Amino acid sequence: MAILRMTDLDLRNRRVLIRSDLNVPQDDSGAITDDTRIRASLGAIRDALAKGARVMVTSHLGRPKEGVLEPADSLQPVADRLGQLLGRTVPVVANWVDGREVAPAPGEVVLLENCRVNIGEKKNDEGLSKRIAALCDVYVNDAFATSHRAEATTHGVARFAPVACAGPLMAAEIEALTKALGNPARPLVAIVAGSKVSTKLTILSSLAEKVDQLVVGGGIANTFMAAAGLPIGKSLVERDLIDEARRIMDKAAARGASVPIPTDVVVATEFAATAKATTKAAADVAADDMILDIGPKSAAALVDALSKAGTIVWNGPVGVFEFDQFGNGTKAIAEAIAQSQAFTLAGGGDTIAAIAKYGITEKLSYISTAGGAFLEFLEGKTLPAIEILEARSAG
Ligand code: 3PG
Repeated sequence: MAILRMTDLDLRNRRVLIRSDLNVPQDDSGAITDDTRIRASLGAIRDALAKGARVMVTSHLGRPKEGVLEPADSLQPVADRLGQLLGRTVPVVANWVDGREVAPAPGEVVLLENCRVNIGEKKNDEGLSKRIAALCDVYVNDAFATSHRAEATTHGVARFAPVACAGPLMAAEIEALTKALGNPARPLVAIVAGSKVSTKLTILSSLAEKVDQLVVGGGIANTFMAAAGLPIGKSLVERDLIDEARRIMDKAAARGASVPIPTDVVVATEFAATAKATTKAAADVAADDMILDIGPKSAAALVDALSKAGTIVWNGPVGVFEFDQFGNGTKAIAEAIAQSQAFTLAGGGDTIAAIAKYGITEKLSYISTAGGAFLEFLEGKTLPAIEILEARSAG
């Protein structure tokens, strides 16, 4: 459904409230360890400033207790980094829902303190949402990474603001994910890896209905290998989900799609940076082996499948890539994706770390800034913050 976009609006002298996702990782001293989300949010802010808007930006940071602003929950470090990137000072405004006007002058920007400190934010309180909506003429949601949360600044305010629209990052994320999963160039290959089937069961089940190949990796693959009757030694496995894994394979097979099972693996008898890696056929995994990566034959088969794909969606490394001796499968996939002519989309924390490790960041068509929201989109769920923008755009 069409969504009104910020880029289509005249914002001159308008009070524009941008909900960004500036929820960045910090170290123990509060220093930002990865500013990707801040940089990804610059487009909306710069554009609104260039159009002469009175710009207010807000975001959550972590999961603070409502009603108290602890120093560790403050957006001040984010404001400092944002200021460096914008080349101007970005003042932080606290207690911004107390009824006073907080919009700055036209062409100026302020950062409204951690929105999750406001009482009622998490519960999407209607009174709070109305008070926030009253602060602006135009509400812009640019926080795709929080679009799976129905909170006052992601959902409620969009109901009551005079105008509610999507910012450029939100629009780009929706466009990329829809392109990959809505009407994909085929074959569509999805790589879903991670330690547990249970955390990605609905994604696997939903993708089995859409993709041409569903590549499972990591601990998830172990459960699928067990379902295929292969020995997995003392590898991480969820025995209660073996039947579910079988159902997913059957569902894919019924539509002519496949869930390739590794034919060879890299094992060790301990989980450690110094563990000795041994490659063996999947059928030869011994009782005291732990599967920590796919083997070279399995990797070559995946590389071949990826080279023929029209669309590749990647979520999760296929081995313990943090230890180099168990990183070859993930590296092979990363390199195949980098060389692919397909539309390539990746998302999720570990995946981004693997992409950075193998230096292919510039080679993907799109890397999502989202974690949980990316996964919920893959599950085929309706994301409430997007749904309300669609509803408002429909009139
Ligand atoms: C994220 O980091 O995935 C988003 O910022 C959402 O954060 P949350 O899980 O605390 O809602």
